Parts: sequence; C-alpha cells; structure tokens
Amino acid sequence: MTQELTSPSPAPQAPGTGRGPGWWRDAVIYQVYVRSFADSDGDGIGDLRGARERLPYLKDLGVDAVWLTPFYASPQADGGYDVADYRAVDPLFGTLQDADDLIRTAHDLGLRVIVDIVPNHTSDRHPWFQDPELSRQRYLFRPGKGESGELPPNDWESVFGGPAWTRTDRGDWYLHLFAPEQPDLNWDNPEVHTEFEAIMRFWLDLGVDGFRVDVAHGMIKAPGLPDIGHGAQAQLIGAQVLPFFDQDGVHAIHRAWRRLLDGYGDAHGRQVIGVAEAWAPTAERLALYVRPDELHQAFNFQFLNAPWQSDALRSVIDASLAATASVGAPTTWVLSNHDVVRHTTRLGGSLARARAATLLMLALPGSAYLYQGEELGLPEVTDLPDEVRQDPAFFRGGRATGAAGPGTDTESAPDGVAAAGGQDGFRDGCRVPLPWSGALPPYGFGPGGSWLPQPADWGGLTVAAQTGDPASTLELYRAALDLRRRLPGLGDGPMTWAPAPDGVLAFTRPGLLCTVNTLGHDVGLPAPGTPLLSSAPVTVDDATGRLPGDSCTWWAI
Ligand code: BGC
Repeated sequence: MTQELTSPSPAPQAPGTGRGPGWWRDAVIYQVYVRSFADSDGDGIGDLRGARERLPYLKDLGVDAVWLTPFYASPQADGGYDVADYRAVDPLFGTLQDADDLIRTAHDLGLRVIVDIVPNHTSDRHPWFQDPELSRQRYLFRPGKGESGELPPNDWESVFGGPAWTRTDRGDWYLHLFAPEQPDLNWDNPEVHTEFEAIMRFWLDLGVDGFRVDVAHGMIKAPGLPDIGHGAQAQLIGAQVLPFFDQDGVHAIHRAWRRLLDGYGDAHGRQVIGVAEAWAPTAERLALYVRPDELHQAFNFQFLNAPWQSDALRSVIDASLAATASVGAPTTWVLSNHDVVRHTTRLGGSLARARAATLLMLALPGSAYLYQGEELGLPEVTDLPDEVRQDPAFFRGGRATGAAGPGTDTESAPDGVAAAGGQDGFRDGCRVPLPWSGALPPYGFGPGGSWLPQPADWGGLTVAAQTGDPASTLELYRAALDLRRRLPGLGDGPMTWAPAPDGVLAFTRPGLLCTVNTLGHDVGLPAPGTPLLSSAPVTVDDATGRLPGDSCTWWAI
C-alpha cells in the first residue's frame, strides 16, 4: 500500500531547531494513544484528525511534545504494534495527509511530535513475511525438534502467553516473542537494517522530531537461540538478561540510529531523538541505552514499578540518577502508559497518591512522559466484559505486559507493583477512550460511540468538568507544567536530598523544595518556605507546615 500526500511540501520546522543543549533533556512529552484520544469520524475509534483537533488542548496543558502510538497500516492484532506497511497510515486512523497536517499543526503550536517505530517484529501481513523466499531470510525460521520436527526449536515463551514459536505449513517454525501475528525480524540480515533506516528517514522527511523505539531491547537474540530452562519466563523480563531481551548486540543498532538521527538533524538544522522502550534488569544496564552515542532517552520503568514508600522511592531515584549521570544522559520518568495499570489505580486506588506521585515526578531532574488521561486522574477501568476485550494477551491467556516488562499480572509480577489493582492483568482497562465533555458516554470522544465502553460515572472527570476547578487534577497538572516552565533549572538541573521525617522525602531543586509525604496521615515539619503548589491542601501555622497524608508540595525557598 502506498499513500501519497496531496500537497507535498518541505517538512515543517520544529520549534527551536539546531543542536543545542538538547530539548529532550527536560521535555514533558504527552503520549497520545491514538485510538482512544479523540474520534473525528464517528466510528468509535480515535484518529489523526481527532488528535489534530485537540492539539490546542495539549498546548494549553503545557507539554512540550506528543508521542503518537502506531497509526500505520496494520491488521490491528496488537493495537497497531503489528505493522504491515510502515509508510502508510491505516484507514482506521486517516491518511498520510492527516499525519502531515497533524505534524504541521503541532509545530505551528510549538509542540514537537514523536512517532513509534516497531523494529523487533512486523505484522504477518507484511509483504516480506508474505513472500515465502524473502520471509526465510528476514525473519527467524528454524526447524523444529523431535522426530519429525513437531516440537518448537527451543523453550522460549511468548510475552503474551504460550510458546514463542508457530509452525508453518512447510513444517518449520518462526519466532514471535509477542503474538503469532507478530513474527520477529532477523536483524542479522543487513536488508533489515537498511529498511528501518529508510523508514526513519521517511518519517523524518515528513517532519517528525523523533521515534519511540518499541521493544528496543529485543532485536538481537543470543547466538544459537539457547533454551532458558525455566517456565513463566515473562516474570524474568526486566529482572535478568534473557537470550531474547537486553542482549548486548542491540547497542550496535542504537549506535547506528544515533548516527542517523544526528546526521539528519545536523543536515536539516533539527534535533531529532530516539527514546528506548527497553526493559533492563538494572538502572546501570538501562543507562547503556542512553550512552552518548546511543539513544537520547530510555523510559525508567524501575521508577514506574516502585511502591509508594519513601525508602523505595528514594533508592530508585538515586539509582536512576546515578546510572544516567554516569553516561551524561537525563533520566526519563514515567508513571503510566498504554501497557500498565493507570497509576491512580496502581497506587492503591488512591487519587491522592497519584496526584502526589505526579508532582514528585515533575519535580525530578530530567524528562517526563505523561499518558493521556492521567491529567484527568482517570482510574483503570476494571469491569470490562469479555466480549469487548482486545488485548491479544487476554486471548492467549498470557500475562498483561505489552512493554514486555515485569508483567502486570498481580499474582506473578516480581513485585506485584505495575499490576496492582487492574481487572485481571490485561491492558484494555488503561486504554478506554478519553472523556472530553458531557454527562454521558462517549463524553465528547467523538460523534459516535467508543471502541471500549466508558464507565457511566465519568461525567465528573471530563476535561470540560475539570477545567477551571482549582481542586481538579487537570488544573493541578496545568499549574505544575506552568511552574516547571517558569522556574529555571527545574528541568535538567541539580537535586539535593534534604532532611525529612520517616516516611517523608524532601529535596531541593533550583528555587524549590519538594516534600512528599508517603504516609496515610498528616506529618508536621518546620515550614521550609512558602507553598507554591500542592497535591492536597497544605497548611502552615507558626512556621510549622502540615503535610497531608499522601501528598506532595512544592515550596518556594
Ligand atoms: C508495546 C506494546 C506492544 C508490544 C509489542 C510494547 O512495547 O508498548 O503495546 O504490545 O511492544 O509490540
């Protein structure tokens, strides 16, 4: 499938171009899960036009960039992470012209645009996989074991459950770390490298400012594809190096992409970036992905997985900052995305904790990613009926991790954290379409319905309902992002821990002191300054500040 632009013209320039200190180092980037953001045509599925119409909302929210999840031509076996044509827009989401329009509108508003690239696997409908000869060079086919090759080539399990191998009519097997409709590419084949570099150039020519690299830890498999000798392998992801994840060989690919991105940026006076979705067992191994000659950012899932306890938070923050500092990169904080239970629900079903966690994240040095709807305090939807479920893991009886991280299965996740509070460990509950306005579904999501049912009680959570209400979560996000822009040094600058009572974290940033009370009750402490912003009402009497339970406060010092 080839799509043409009706009015090809030079790629629009992103705001603030050229090499400089690096716009990404402290950027707040908003994840648009396209199918659930805004629907322009009434088919109940969000699309690029809908997203473009809502860009002024994101500008007003105060973010620096948007990351769009895959909108490419795809049979949608895994929400678009099964790409059949990397250069075409799926009709569900619009046309290439719509993508071009969206990028231009974003740049006109001063927002940058990051798109997903999915290099570990394609769709099984991709022309390479459809071609019997090509497929055997460009994917990972192996003979089976057993007398007549009836057993899979090794014991690897799919992240979505079941064996990671499917047998073909010809009798051999192909590897798919995710669904059978997502065959893994053979990155030993130079044609695969050439193709992905060309795909990146295609989207850079259209004006995008970077790529979120899906499964950036997965492309290279250990030589000989050795057995793991352990069941329930999804539990090991992110806990140890596996023969299919976090192999050292992936770094050569990232180094080549960094050369491409820098070379392209230099030639066009732009700063274009790569962000790794990589699950590594330690902060040190994750930092390898952001060495100066590799990608610019890597999501910090260790922070996302941390429990709501001051000691645990402090040690994950320290480990993350030390590891990224050792390679000169900023840390990239994240609390929610389309693969994990929304943090309002994950942190004990507590909106208070979610609001505090967000203020904590936004006070830390580095970049932060927000997931659509978290600014509304949306909870995970936990009562979806089976007949509406779409997550492929749900149908394979596997675990609920798309990110292939430590799973979102409450029982079996290594620390049970990312999973806590979800319906049953699958990922549809964080993907329910956004409520924009009105008292009834689809709450302004679009002129039709919504592909997943929205709860009947979301009327008070809409953008319209929260706008202008100073106590709302939306206005808290707006105020925090506004302050973050106005306080110099709050993004990429120094941070120092300050003394604090048990259960409380305190640290200074340029011009600011941040306190986080992780306890469920008030704590008093000498008021460190004047409260600037708080996730819950803070009081100061006779120079004593009272921090409400589960709250975060920014103090002017
Ligand atoms: C994406 C998931 C997806 C998986 C396979 C993950 O990184 O975030 O949504 O299911 O990769 O592509």
